[in-house]
Formats: sequence, C-alpha cells, structure tokens
Amino acid sequence: MKSLKQTLIVSEENCKNPKTMTIDLRSDTVTRPTPEMLAAIMNAKVGDDVYKEDPSANALEAEVAELFGMEEALFFPTGSMANQAAIKLHTQPGEQLICDQWAHVFNYEGGGVSFNSGVSCKLVAGTRGMITAEQVASHINPPDFYHSPLTSLVCLENTTNKGGGACYDFEEFKRIREVCNAHDLGLHLDGARLMNALVATGDDPKEYGRVFDTLTLCLSKGLGTPLGTVLAGKRHIMKNAIRVRKILGGGMRQIGFMAAAGSYALEHHVSRLKEDHQKAKELASHLASLAYVSEVESTETNIVIFYLNDAIPAAHFMAYLDSEGIRISDMGQGKLRMVTHLDYDDGMHKKVLLSLQQYETKKPSS
Ligand SMILES: Cc1ncc(COP(=O)(O)O)c(C=O)c1O
Repeated sequence: MKSLKQTLIVSEENCKNPKTMTIDLRSDTVTRPTPEMLAAIMNAKVGDDVYKEDPSANALEAEVAELFGMEEALFFPTGSMANQAAIKLHTQPGEQLICDQWAHVFNYEGGGVSFNSGVSCKLVAGTRGMITAEQVASHINPPDFYHSPLTSLVCLENTTNKGGGACYDFEEFKRIREVCNAHDLGLHLDGARLMNALVATGDDPKEYGRVFDTLTLCLSKGLGTPLGTVLAGKRHIMKNAIRVRKILGGGMRQIGFMAAAGSYALEHHVSRLKEDHQKAKELASHLASLAYVSEVESTETNIVIFYLNDAIPAAHFMAYLDSEGIRISDMGQGKLRMVTHLDYDDGMHKKVLLSLQQYETKKPSS
C-alpha cells in the first residue's frame, strides 16, 4: 500500500508532461491539471449533486450564469452532452435546426441531433465555420408549408473548430438574433472555446446573455480541466435541463471535484490564453514562410490550419514530425491542424519551429 505522501508525489508527477514526453499539438484537450489545479480539486467541498447539494458545482454554475448574464446554468461532463441537451430543450422531433456545414453538433457528436432529438440539420456553406444573418434567413423553411420540417433553432459555434479557431464579429450575432426573433427561432451557441474568443476579441461576456438563449462553455479545452462543460441559458428553457441531462445519463454525484477545477481555471487560466494565441500566430507565420506549405489559414486564436504542397503526402510529413516527437492532426482533405495549449511551453515551441524548418533537410526518404 502506498502512503498518502507517496500518492501525492505520484499525483504531482502526473500533473505536467515530463520533458521526455511527446509535444502534443493535436488538440487543447490533451492537457493535464497543474499542481495548483490538482490542489483545488483535492480541497473541493463536495456533496451529492443529484440532490443539488454539491457546493462546488452550485458555485460554478452560479459563477458561469453571472459571467454571461444568464439566468441559470448547469454542469455537464462533456461539451457534446451539453450541446445535445440544449438542442433537445429547444426542439421537438421532426423539426430542423440551421448550422454551418462544419458545425461540431452536426459532424462530431455521433449523429446525436437525430438520435437524441429526432431533429434534422439544414447545413449552410459558411466561411470558416461561421454563417451570416442573411444565410440564416434564407435557410428557414416557411412555417406554413407543412411538407418541410419546421425550423426551430439556429446553432452557432465560437470559436469555430473546423474553421480554425475563427471568431465571429459580435455585430453578426446581433443580426442573427434579429432574424431569430422575426421567425420565432431559438439561438444556441456552442462555446467550446468561448473564452478564446472573448480573449481574442475583448467582447463583453454579458452581451452573450443578451443575444443567445443558451450557450455552452467548455472547461476542458483551453481552460485545462480534466472534464466539464457548463450550459447556461434563460430560465424558461433551462427549467427542464436537469431532466434532459438525467435522461442522457448525466446525473452525477460528487462532481464538485471537477467543478472546483473549473472555478480554478476561470480564475487562473483565462488571461493566459493570449499566450496560446501568440504561439499559434508564430506557428502560422513560420509555416507561411516555408516553401513546402501551400496555404495557412488566418489564425486568430489557438488553432492553426495549414495545407502542404500537392507533392507532399500528409502521412509522410506527419511521420517526420512523429520522429521529432511532435504530434498534429490530419483533418482530411489536406487540412492539417495544430492546437496550442496550457502544456505547450516555450521550449516545446522553439523545438516545433526548428523541426518545421528542418523538414526539407531532415525528412526521411519516402
Ligand atoms: C466546437 C466544439 N464543440 C463541442 C465539442 C465537444 O466537446 P466534448 O469533447 O467535451 O464532448 C468540441 C470538442 O472538441 C468542440 O471542438
């Protein structure tokens, strides 16, 4: 049996990526809790959240609701479950939602929109995962034409994942809200990386509460917690959220351990996101200067999307990076992705810049 002291030492070792570890730029979800976050987790006051008696979960929910000027908030284990619950709260089976063709809710939530809510998606060909008010208006099915599914919800994403961390102009949100008001549609925001957007744009989080009916905020992406997403929204929509979460299997007990990590992250890990954005911008401009890279998408936050010259197979390039101890994502159709995060430090950054530089000279023969 290990003593408590030994257990704590092992836990501390588990907090940070050891120096020998791979430089993992596949996603900002790969981070480990810092020793300080781990201490916040271990010192959390907890209770049974199914009875709504977990003080740390209750505090985090109140904090997020207040931050965004929303009336209510509820902790979820994942961003996907929170998005799926929101879609269920806004819609009835047979109805339709409007979203960008690259939206996470459509592409990466296992078909949950149809499975959980019996709803279809009208996909819009937006720009870098973002859609306009005009596009929303032109994709609404006429409500009195009963052959078409009834449009009842618009789902937006900020920042966009497949769109390379792009941020909406807040004015566009306001215009989309007007369209939703005119057509009696709900408006949900997938805010997996909403804090990255707020740090990059300087927008006021309270404005989000004025425009959106519901929004999610993921704690396990740029904010660096092991898990957790908060769904915040207007009371009349959120009143059934806890029931829907239960149906989806998300009734949890002493969840305060993770909620405390979330509160810690909101206090300590938001302003540092600008460092991730800076490193992403440096990676993007470095890539743009390399002859074997054909295109780098505009980089506003912590996601860098780039394409190689046609002659270079992505698998070959990724095998080279792998041999350098660097992992990135292949998103298909030639799209490669790097995501900067809390565990990507200055030393790793220098190493990645150098390895990218040396690809032409060091690459193994194909
Ligand atoms: C834009 C976006 N929405 C939702 C999610 C889902 O989050 P989770 O993995 O916690 O289900 C992700 C995950 O990466 C995401 O990028």
